[in-house]
Amino acid sequence: MPIIAPSLLSANFLNLQADCSMLNESDADWYHLDVMDGRFVPNISFGPMLIEFFRKATTKVCDVHLMILEPEKYAEQFKNAGADILTVHLEACTHLHRNVQQIRALGMKAGVALNPHTSVSCLSDILHDIDLVCLMSVNPGFGGQKFILHTIEKIKQLRKMIDEKGLKVDIEIDGGVTLDNAPSIIAAGANVLVAGNTVFKSSDPKATIAQLKAL
Ligand code: DX5
Ligand code: ZN
Repeated sequence: MPIIAPSLLSANFLNLQADCSMLNESDADWYHLDVMDGRFVPNISFGPMLIEFFRKATTKVCDVHLMILEPEKYAEQFKNAGADILTVHLEACTHLHRNVQQIRALGMKAGVALNPHTSVSCLSDILHDIDLVCLMSVNPGFGGQKFILHTIEKIKQLRKMIDEKGLKVDIEIDGGVTLDNAPSIIAAGANVLVAGNTVFKSSDPKATIAQLKAL
């Protein structure tokens, strides 16, 4: 069964309590929390302060996706805010190995995210040191974009790399995931589905989460 990680970026920020309660009662496994700095991506979302509130609102895993430059400056703040998984972008890290070591030393799981143009082969020397790969299936920065089909090939390649090395690394797909394309995403070898608009714009978000979970 896939891990379902609804992205709160698409939640109703005027009534987050309602959306958190809905998620807590649903089959969702993780809260996917998108942090944007207006520098690495052309949008600004929220930071550790809001994550502290989400941490208080749920016992589910807080999966924090940092779309920011110099993530090493903030790793400790995100740990203190309650992040369980901290994902940094390969494209934002000159010293990626040092960054993932720092995240693990702080007691969090370490994830690495790749933009659509970055080849999964760039991960071959870091896969041993991480817990999760987040493959962006849209250009990061905004919810509600269209899934880039080439991601399916990247998932297959990455699944092969992970299995050949005998590792246990989660493959998370982020951007444009729908009930229609999720089966092929899972068939290609991914095991974590992020879904923003598909969940929060649904007329019955809980049922949509259950449908994704049942795939
Ligand atoms: C995009 C974010 C995603 C986004 C996904 O930069 O990383 O997590 O919220 O939203 P949907 O599922 O609507 O594409
Ligand atoms: Zn994300």
